[in-house]
Amino acid sequence: MAFDIERFTQDSVRVNWEDLDLDNFRENPLPPETLRTLRYMCDVEYHTVCYLRDMLVTRSHGEGEVNAFMTMWNREEFWHGEALAHVLSLHGVTVNYDQLKDRRKKLGWRDRLAPVKQSLLSNIVGKDFVAVHMLWGAANEWSAAAAYKRLGVLEGHPSLAELLRRIAAQESRHVAFYATQAKARLAGNPKAQKLARFALKNAWAPVGSGIMTDDEVTHVMGHLFGGTEGRKEINAIDRHIGRLPGMEGLTIFADALDARGVAA
Ligand SMILES: [Fe+2]
Ligand SMILES: [Fe+2]
Repeated sequence: MAFDIERFTQDSVRVNWEDLDLDNFRENPLPPETLRTLRYMCDVEYHTVCYLRDMLVTRSHGEGEVNAFMTMWNREEFWHGEALAHVLSLHGVTVNYDQLKDRRKKLGWRDRLAPVKQSLLSNIVGKDFVAVHMLWGAANEWSAAAAYKRLGVLEGHPSLAELLRRIAAQESRHVAFYATQAKARLAGNPKAQKLARFALKNAWAPVGSGIMTDDEVTHVMGHLFGGTEGRKEINAIDRHIGRLPGMEGLTIFADALDARGVAA
């Protein structure tokens, strides 16, 4: 596995949807459970900038390739949010910044404290923090790629499937970066492996858990990853993680579904 950061920064473009026939949603709208899932995904994509803020106060800031990657990554995620907001707008659902700001305000001290907490943690842990950040990022990007692919299959709407395929392709490049970094930083470093394993096992939760309500998290997990086919996707992510140095046998995704009562 190798990741060419220069190529990534040069090739990175915003996701396009102008050529897709999305207007037919006006006659054939998506069902409510899909709109609810899209709304969740949209909010989480827009939240990337806050996550970036939290990471810029850590040791990850200043790591050359990580800086370059996070700059382009944040831009790509922002446009994922814009694309999904466009689909939602065709269904009369408006996602505006004031609502997002309101939600963050409701997070209150948790949101305000996040950068401080990350900064302190990163200073205590030192350079191994970056390995944990990269592993965490890989897990989340794997799940993002799987979620978009799965929604495309579930919905079977040609234009939506194509938009989600384009987004998933970008998520897969994010996976490649984080997983390559995580592998390199964990390899031959038992201390980092121990710390990363502990963090995933005890602190990790599905993307969006900190900003969306529990009900919303459970809805999205059940909608996308419930049933036999959904569980297959989730097990595949756990296997990807388990192949990284020191992560053998971790099943954080399957455990998260079980904990939320999402049946296989
Ligand atoms: Fe994204
Ligand atoms: Fe991503």
